[in-house]
Amino acid sequence: MLQLRGVRIAGIARYAPERIVTNEDFERWLDTSDEWITVRTGMKRRHWAADDQATSDLAIVAAGNALAQAGLKADDIDCYIVATATPDFIFPATACIVAAKLGAVGKAAFDVSIACSGFIYALTVASGLIRSGVYRRIMLIGAETLSKIMNKQDRATAILFGDGAGAAVLEACDQDGFLAAELGADGTTPEILYQPSSGTRNPVSHAAIDAGMQYIHMAGREVFKFAVTSMVEATEIALRKAGLERRDINFLIPHQANRRIIDAAVKYLEVPREKVLVNIQEYGNTSSASIPMALAEAVEAKRIGGGDVVVLVGFGAGLSWGAVVWRWNSIGPQGASRP
Ligand code: UT7
Repeated sequence: MLQLRGVRIAGIARYAPERIVTNEDFERWLDTSDEWITVRTGMKRRHWAADDQATSDLAIVAAGNALAQAGLKADDIDCYIVATATPDFIFPATACIVAAKLGAVGKAAFDVSIACSGFIYALTVASGLIRSGVYRRIMLIGAETLSKIMNKQDRATAILFGDGAGAAVLEACDQDGFLAAELGADGTTPEILYQPSSGTRNPVSHAAIDAGMQYIHMAGREVFKFAVTSMVEATEIALRKAGLERRDINFLIPHQANRRIIDAAVKYLEVPREKVLVNIQEYGNTSSASIPMALAEAVEAKRIGGGDVVVLVGFGAGLSWGAVVWRWNSIGPQGASRP
């Protein structure tokens, strides 16, 4: 029989690799400018992983810090989930590697692959697993090393993406943080944003590599067109499911893809600017890492307090989109009341 209970975020942390690439850096090898990038995207810098850093390496730093915050050890976690579009390998799942590197062997571990919507989808899945009593504690990570699959000579994509990781420890508790979710996808035109030679449709070959099919390909304007509408609609539907309205939003964490997209969505949703986390200027678009990294930053800066209604909303390849409405609880160990 299902044993229904609540879920809270007990720890949330982020990590970005040391190497910083500025807009001015791109001017050295691309036909672009700081002005174009700033005006069109809001980005100023992004962090890129070192040659010897893969996605799991970023993930374990964020996850280790989230565990410390929650007062837990890797072995206390029942299940590891990594949302990523840039796994260490197509298989095995990066979550298996992350769990092992943290010192947890024998726990459940799997990846969620739905690009920039990954953390929202994975948060919904993980919350369901905890609320239904399947697991007590889940490590949920959004981590990417997009710089590894970018054509650094393509000005349309090279400037956009950054690397990073955000990790959240989810834990069963009495007061439920998860209020509602709205997820969606439209896979009729996957080529709007994809990595053509990455799986079985166009297996890796010399010809595919000569054609640059191992890199991210994106019809930026097409993504832009759907982005604002999908974020607004997902937010409104999720709020409705939670029995709430726009004015009930205490804090908004949007996917950091483009400053203009965020501005348009925020304006439509009528959320005051001071209640929105924007860090795109520092990290660029880190796909499934962007929302947990932004959430960690908001928590570090004490911009979110106990009882706040927090909306997390994203969109991306698929096409896909999703929003989660969350009632914020304090982080840290639950102490004596820990189940
Ligand atoms: O996480 C989800 C993933 N992706 C996204 O969310 C991306 C969504 N889309 C966007 O953010 C925007 O579409 C971009 C930032 C990618 C592009 O901005 P835009 O305002 O849609 O520009 P555009 O693609 O319409 O290009 C305008 C012009 C073009 O030149 P022409 O054809 O007008 O002569 C581009 O070739 O800007 C040119 N251009 C650049 N110029 C300087 C494209 N990239 C650059 C660049 N520097 N880096």
